[in-house]
Amino acid sequence: MHSTNPTSRYVPTSIIGHSVFLPPKVLTNAELERRFDTTDEWIRERTGIRERRVGGKTSDMAIEAGRKAVNLAGVDASEIQMLVLATTTPDHIMPSTASLVHHHLGLSGVSFDINAVCSGFVHAYIVANSMMSTMDINTAIVIGSDCLSSLTGADDRTTTVLFGDGAGAVVLNKTHNKNAYSGILGIDMGTDGSGYDLLFCPHRGAIEMDGQEVFRRAVRATVASAGKALEMAGMKAGDISLFIPHQANYRIIQAACARLGISEQHTAVTIETTGNTSAASIPIALSMALDEGIVSEGDTILMSGFGAGMSWSSVVVRL
Ligand code: UT7
Repeated sequence: MHSTNPTSRYVPTSIIGHSVFLPPKVLTNAELERRFDTTDEWIRERTGIRERRVGGKTSDMAIEAGRKAVNLAGVDASEIQMLVLATTTPDHIMPSTASLVHHHLGLSGVSFDINAVCSGFVHAYIVANSMMSTMDINTAIVIGSDCLSSLTGADDRTTTVLFGDGAGAVVLNKTHNKNAYSGILGIDMGTDGSGYDLLFCPHRGAIEMDGQEVFRRAVRATVASAGKALEMAGMKAGDISLFIPHQANYRIIQAACARLGISEQHTAVTIETTGNTSAASIPIALSMALDEGIVSEGDTILMSGFGAGMSWSSVVVRL
């Protein structure tokens, strides 16, 4: 036996630390009922969301999640040679929010932001593993952090009910386990810029969205992308211990699962209490699943993101 999987182009890596940060302020459906012409029933039936956390700032949330993940990993922060931060809500236009997080966590090496909206974390996970495969980087941290609740229009009930704030982080390490491969088995990434204006936010403006069209494309993109990543891994949906889709709308998750042939029992669903946290939704769900022991070393997971762009990406990972 050897430590590399002959079918994978990626160096073996393991997740040695993980964490979640959610801002303390809870925004319930009851509160939204007082603000807008909406009901708790409508929101839960159409989206699966009961409450979301708001009031977060991207760098603060990333630092909180990152610090806890580094502590759990049991490494010194200065041993971490790369930070890839997925965010669409940077603190400033420049420099990157990753610079600030890198400084506060006391990391070494390189850091940068990736803006691929709700696909951001999976993009960042693939980029981090690709760089670890080709460069002398042994330990890296990948964080998704977003505060899209700050970009919803004051009178827009449709987007306000959906978006929440949060961050999730994972620390990756090149593993030298001689008995089993852990790391990336299959990927898929893509963009369809013709959908650029279906979900966008101008400078100093609010999020605008064609909800129905985004919904349709989200289901199609998730199913196609997850299928391609599984095919590259030489796996079937039934081989996956846990499917971790982007948490945008429970009905999107249900529709994608039905088409992929993945049972809800094997699917991570956190949207009820988090809402759509954009680039943070997948690492939050992954971290919670690891904390709860739903998945552990040796299990194979499939993470799939889609979002504005339109963008999408999927990755099959053996833990
Ligand atoms: O990360 C990607 C981010 N974006 C998404 O994933 C969005 C994907 N799309 C969706 O999640 C859904 O399209 C929404 C939740 C945004 C909307 O649900 P829908 O089932 O597609 O509703 P709809 O747009 O077809 O609207 C149905 C009705 C409309 O009223 P009329 O025209 O039938 O009288 C809307 O005006 O629901 C109305 N409506 C609401 N009613 C109560 C829209 N928002 C609300 C609301 N409360 N918050």
